[in-house]
Amino acid sequence: MSYRVSLLPGDGIGPEVTDATLKVLEATGVKFDWVRHEYLGAAAVEKYGIPLPDHVIESIRETGIALKGPVTTPVGKGFKSVNVQLRQKLDLYANVRPCKSLPGIKTPFQNIDLLIFRENTEGLYSGLESYDERHDIADSIARISKAGSQRIIEFCFSYASTHNYKKVTVVHKANILKLTSGMFLKLAQDHALNYPGLEFNDRIIDNMCMQLVVRPWEYNCIVTTNLFGDILSDLAAGLVGGLGVVAGANIGAKYAVFEAVHGSAPDIAGQNKANPTALIRSSEMMLRHLGETKAADAIHDGLVDIYTEGKYLTGDQGGNVGTDEFARQLAIRVSNHL
Ligand code: NAI
Ligand code: MG
Repeated sequence: MSYRVSLLPGDGIGPEVTDATLKVLEATGVKFDWVRHEYLGAAAVEKYGIPLPDHVIESIRETGIALKGPVTTPVGKGFKSVNVQLRQKLDLYANVRPCKSLPGIKTPFQNIDLLIFRENTEGLYSGLESYDERHDIADSIARISKAGSQRIIEFCFSYASTHNYKKVTVVHKANILKLTSGMFLKLAQDHALNYPGLEFNDRIIDNMCMQLVVRPWEYNCIVTTNLFGDILSDLAAGLVGGLGVVAGANIGAKYAVFEAVHGSAPDIAGQNKANPTALIRSSEMMLRHLGETKAADAIHDGLVDIYTEGKYLTGDQGGNVGTDEFARQLAIRVSNHL
């Protein structure tokens, strides 16, 4: 049997980390029938005139699942983020970003186990921006809905409870944003009553940033709105080894897209320097989603071996091994764990 999965390598370091991930997936022995789409973002604009062609969306609707590399978004101008569009068009409302210490990666804190549940379709990413030429005023609407908030909150609590996590923290700015953040907080507080076995608290976003860099071990599952979740997940990535090692999943009722937290890293693109661990761990999440637990465990154990040995590390982890060599070494260790 083979799994039909849409493959979107993206741009920047995307193609390099995708090649590395495919090498490691091959070592697990799980068979995939990849439906590959090379053109996204700027490359798709050049070829098709739009950054996210319909056939890519259709492909994911058909396969139900995608593995995706990063796609560059022009800053302050140009087309709307392909990443945001994909999440909205496929209604991938839950962005799950596990930031867990990996044995062997040296960081200021050990035993961090944070899981960020970011609302992925609304808030300040709704795309409701306008510019009033007469008064030179720019607006951006942070629209959130009760239903949209409820479903990510429910997703987080249900995940925490089935995976034996102890604690859920809702992160907000309800002191200032009384209607939007206020509604999100109230819904989380109400929902917490259904889970008496889970410890529950709330933190205001600015305080949460400070708490996470001082006593991160006090937190487990964090549920929050779109922008706060985006920022907190990069912060949390920094606690466990940086953007090179942190995975992510975008989950909806029908489809799932697995992609790393990091972007296209133009500063190191095309140089065989990128750490593919983040996308490899996203593929590990994909294997768990498919029920391929043994293969997923082999990837996890292989990564623990690599980082504990400390001989084959990419630049971001203080080594000088290339993306492809890292993948080759990891593939050997993954096979050993099957
Ligand atoms: P970035 O995540 O691409 O890079 C930030 C820093 O982390 C850079 O110094 C980079 O070299 C380093 N880094 C990132 N991933 C790494 C890896 N795998 N191995 C080693 N080092 C790594 O963020 P930046 O520079 O703010 O954004 C670049 C572009 O990526 C922008 O166009 C942005 O819109 C896009 N982006 C796309 C995302 C996606 O496709 N889901 C997510 C985040 C950003
Ligand atoms: Mg981000």
